[in-house]
Amino acid sequence: MDRIKINLGQYASQLIKDNQIVGLGSGTTANCFIKSLSARVSQGLKIKAIASSIESENLAKKNNIPIIESKDIDQIDIYVDGADFVNQKKEMIKGYGAAFVKEKILASFSKEIIIIVDESKLIKNFLKKKIPLEVCLFGKEFTKKILERLGYTANYRKDNNDIFITENNNCIIDIEINQNIDDINNFNLKLLSIAGVIQTGLFYNLPSKIILGKMDNTFDIIK
Ligand code: 5RP
Repeated sequence: MDRIKINLGQYASQLIKDNQIVGLGSGTTANCFIKSLSARVSQGLKIKAIASSIESENLAKKNNIPIIESKDIDQIDIYVDGADFVNQKKEMIKGYGAAFVKEKILASFSKEIIIIVDESKLIKNFLKKKIPLEVCLFGKEFTKKILERLGYTANYRKDNNDIFITENNNCIIDIEINQNIDDINNFNLKLLSIAGVIQTGLFYNLPSKIILGKMDNTFDIIK
């Protein structure tokens, strides 16, 4: 699996061109991309990057990738990230690594999105898959009850025995649903209409290309 992630990181880093503003995703696959990008920067590639998490920003800085602040950016040219699950319609579940709010903000501001995943993450439907929701700490118990009354299994993301706190100072409730998601936009909007829900880990309708890394070191692309 590590070999596939390294291959994916290398593949994505070859797509980056001089003078681009690059959005850096988060997670183990995105880390492979950041390291490959750093190798290209050391060979003379001129880019600036903005990261979706403290961990990614630290890794980029450690590897001499120049960081730019959001106030100095009019558009992100290309955003590269992993995902937890994807389907052929380029719908995705993200956020098992807890960075999905910042990831979605960067992805939404990007002209082009490259999602790098190993082929095991391509699935037919999201039935029974955990869907992460970032939830305001205030009233989190109410939000959890509302989700349960809607028929979803709802669990706080934990950090040992404590409730996990995100970089945005919120918590995460992972929900599980018993039906397939027929209309992801409707479902997403239904979740976002709950007052305490700040964002969901459902990504869709984005200018994305999914690169599937395979065991035989080749790639499939969903355009
Ligand atoms: C973090 C994410 C990650 O992209 C996702 O969890 C995939 O991570 P990994 O590459 O480690 O499997 O959404 O919020």
